[in-house]
Amino acid sequence: MLSGKRILLIIGGGIAAYKCLDLIRRLRERGGSVTPVMTRAAVEFVTPLSVSALAGEKVYTELFDLTDEAEMGHIQLSRVADLVLVAPATADLMAKMAQGMAGDLATTLLLATDTPIMIAPAMNVRMWEHPATQRNLAVLKGDGVSIVGPNDGDMACGEYGPGRMAEPLEIVDAVVGALADGPLRGKRIVVTSGPTHEPIDPVRYIANRSSGAQGTAIAAALRALGAEVVFVTGPADVAPPDGVEVVSVVTAREMRAAVLATLPADAAVFAAAVADWRVVGASDSKIKKVAGALPTLAFEENPDILAEVSQMSEGRPGLVVGFAAETHDVIQNATAKRARKGCDWIVANDVSPATGIMGGTENAVTLISDAGAEAWPRMGKDAVARQLAARIADALV
Ligand code: C5P
Repeated sequence: MLSGKRILLIIGGGIAAYKCLDLIRRLRERGGSVTPVMTRAAVEFVTPLSVSALAGEKVYTELFDLTDEAEMGHIQLSRVADLVLVAPATADLMAKMAQGMAGDLATTLLLATDTPIMIAPAMNVRMWEHPATQRNLAVLKGDGVSIVGPNDGDMACGEYGPGRMAEPLEIVDAVVGALADGPLRGKRIVVTSGPTHEPIDPVRYIANRSSGAQGTAIAAALRALGAEVVFVTGPADVAPPDGVEVVSVVTAREMRAAVLATLPADAAVFAAAVADWRVVGASDSKIKKVAGALPTLAFEENPDILAEVSQMSEGRPGLVVGFAAETHDVIQNATAKRARKGCDWIVANDVSPATGIMGGTENAVTLISDAGAEAWPRMGKDAVARQLAARIADALV
């Protein structure tokens, strides 16, 4: 999977550095080679000897190492890799990267490299949530750096929340995704998938029958063509594909926030069946059943994520694809929807119960674009996904 691929692994100084030992093993198991670089702080957490033993290569730590400059200058070291991976990416390293500082070997390599960079942030939850870190994160995303994690969870410092470094296997998946060869290599694509759940009270919710199968298949097909995929999924029946960054959400409003946070992107595919309405004033406690008295639910409109992203005046993805699930006048309704929402393409399908499409394994779609309506024959959702991914690749390259 990674054979012939060289990863320059920059290990930052955080407690999560211990996970790098496993990460190195996993990357090598898949055929990748790992050139390790450690910051001065990193060597306080794991020993260069362990890192070197697992990587089977020398560990680089110092900028002014004349022997290395003679053998391999720091500029060259930054260029021989297919990917520069920073794990753990501490708040300090992220800040330095965002500022373009180059005060030691690690930051100099990061500034000098012309290969893609991926970071796996790890830090205390407050540090992660601090506006300064979030600003730096936005700058790094804008510079094209890809991000894996952080996850929510218990932290070494005793707190709970986002800031835990992604697990080694998740990082490996992201690396495999980033290094996959194919026409979409280097393209970042956001895919939404699954239903959303809109709470009525803590135990009841409004949902729909979307299984997430089509969105999942699309994410996998885009990944297989080399795209870096951010998969924003509601509570779906189908497990997310390997090799993509998964962002799990529940409600439409959470999905909107997650999508906006993933931008910029080269393309966005909105396959999610987002609930159109949410319950006004969802109750914090379970609504009691009272004999003879029926509760009344009032609804308000959810944000339309597809329309909002399609109509962004700044930072709009180059290609925005929406879906239209209709039960009648499919092409007419979908064509009107494309114009109303402002997206580039609409993938229209007939979800009347008789078709068995919603929740089923097959789909019959019509692709609506500037060029008109193009009906595709009924086929498996995987085949629809592959065909759509190929079209997206044609449009982006
Ligand atoms: O529900 P509707 O038919 O408008 O959905 C059409 C498209 O819009 C789909 O691609 C869906 O993912 C997207 N959508 C959205 N946000 C909503 C409703 C729909 O992104 N609130």
